[in-house]
Amino acid sequence: MIYLLWLVLILLIVLTTTSLTLILNEMWRVTIKRGVPAVSSSWPVVDKVIKAQVFPREGLILDLGCGTGWALRRIWRAGYSGPFIGYETALWPYLIGRFWNWITRSPVKIVRQDFSAAPFEQASGIYLFLLPRMLPEVGKMIKEKAKPGTVVVSAEFEIPGWEAKRLLEARGVTRKLAKIFIY
Ligand SMILES: C[S@@+](CC[C@H](N)C(=O)[O-])C[C@H]1O[C@@H](n2cnc3c(N)ncnc32)[C@H](O)[C@@H]1O
Repeated sequence: MIYLLWLVLILLIVLTTTSLTLILNEMWRVTIKRGVPAVSSSWPVVDKVIKAQVFPREGLILDLGCGTGWALRRIWRAGYSGPFIGYETALWPYLIGRFWNWITRSPVKIVRQDFSAAPFEQASGIYLFLLPRMLPEVGKMIKEKAKPGTVVVSAEFEIPGWEAKRLLEARGVTRKLAKIFIY
C-alpha cells in the first residue's frame, strides 16, 4: 500500500513539473522571446470599429495575430457575414480560441500558423493589434499582398508611413484613450 502511495506521489510530482515547464516555456515564447503578449483588444476598441461600420459587411476578414479570436467573434456577432480567419502562433490563445469557437458555435476559423501565410489577396478587411516594432514589416506585407481597397484597421498603433483615412478613438487596453487607425 505504501509503495502505491509513493508511486502516486512521484507520478503527481512528474506531471506537475512537466505541466509547469510546458506553461513557462510557452509564456516565455509568447511574452518574452517573441515580445508580443497575447493581450486581447479592449472591448471599446472593437465595439468602436463595429459601430463605425469600418469593415465591409461581406467578405473575408483577417485578424493577424488573433489571440483567442475574440475580436473576430465579436465582429461575427455584430452581424458581419465573413468568412473570418485569425492567425495565431501561440499555443494557449489558440487552444482557448478553438474552445470558445466550439462553445459559441462560431464560424471564426483560427489557424495556428504565422500570419504571413494568410490569404491577404482575398481579404476585404484586415484587423491587427500588434506591437509598433512589428508594424513596418506587416505594413509592407499587406501592401505587397492585399488587393487595393482592402480595409486595414490597426488598433492602438499606426502603421509607419501609412496615411490613415479615418481616425477613431476608444478606451484601449491600458484604459487610456487609444487611437484606431483605418486605412
Ligand atoms: C496583442 S495580441 C492581439 C490579439 C487579437 N488580435 C485581439 O486584438 O484581440 C497579438 C497576438 O499576435 C500573435 N502573433 C504575433 N506575431 C505573430 C505571427 N507572426 N503570426 C501569428 N500570430 C502572431 C501573438 O502570439 C499574440 O497572441
